[in-house]
Amino acid sequence: MPRTHRPATIRRATPADVAGLLALEEATFDSDRISRAQWRRHIANSSASVLVSGQPGHVDAAVVVFYRRNARSARLYSLAVGAHARGSGLGGALLAAAEADARARGCDSMRLEVRIDNPAAIALYERRGYARVAQLPHFYEDGADAWRYVKPLAPAPASNRARL
Ligand SMILES: CC(C)(COP(=O)(O)OP(=O)(O)OC[C@H]1O[C@@H](n2cnc3c(N)ncnc32)[C@H](O)[C@@H]1OP(=O)(O)O)[C@@H](O)C(=O)NCCC(=O)NCCS
Repeated sequence: MPRTHRPATIRRATPADVAGLLALEEATFDSDRISRAQWRRHIANSSASVLVSGQPGHVDAAVVVFYRRNARSARLYSLAVGAHARGSGLGGALLAAAEADARARGCDSMRLEVRIDNPAAIALYERRGYARVAQLPHFYEDGADAWRYVKPLAPAPASNRARL
C-alpha cells in the first residue's frame, strides 16, 4: 500500500509564488524548465492548475495540470518536490490533489509523461494506479525518451467538487 502522507497544506499558487516556483524548478530539473513568463501564464490561465505546498511565497513542492476545452482527459505536466522534502509523502499528496482537481473539473482520466530514467517518479505513478501506454522517443530537450502513463479517474463525490 502507498505510504500515508503527512498532512500538507496544498493550495493554489499565486503570482507571489513565482520566485519560489522558479527556484524549485532550477533545483529540480536540468532541462525542459518552466520559465518565469510561463509560470505567470499558468497561474493566471483558467486552463491550467498550479498547486503548491508551502506557506505563501514559499514553495516546497508544486504540480501543474493542463486542461483542454471539451476534453475529459487532464495532463499532469509537471511535479516537483524540493530535495529537502522528499520521501515523506508530499509527492503522493500533490498527485492526489492534482487528481482531485481534475475530477472536480469533470475529467475522467489523467495522463502524463515521465523520463524512462526516473525510477522514483515511475514508482510513484505505478503505485498510484497509472498504466504505461506508450514510449515517446526523444521527448525531452536533451533527447531522452519518455513513457506515457494514463490513469482513469473515478467521478468526484458532489461534496468534494472544487475544494481547492
Ligand atoms: C518523484 C518525486 C515527485 C517524488 O516525491 P516524494 O515526495 O519524494 O514522493 P513520496 O514521498 O510521496 O513517495 C511516493 C512514492 O514515490 C516512490 N518514490 C519516492 N522516492 C523514491 C525513490 N527515491 N526511489 C524509488 N521510489 C521512490 C515510492 O513509490 C513512494 O511510494 P510509497 O509512498 O509507497 O513509499 C520527487 O522525487 C521529485 O520531485 N523528483 C524530482 C522531479 C521529478 O522527477 N518529477 C517527476 C517528473 S515526471
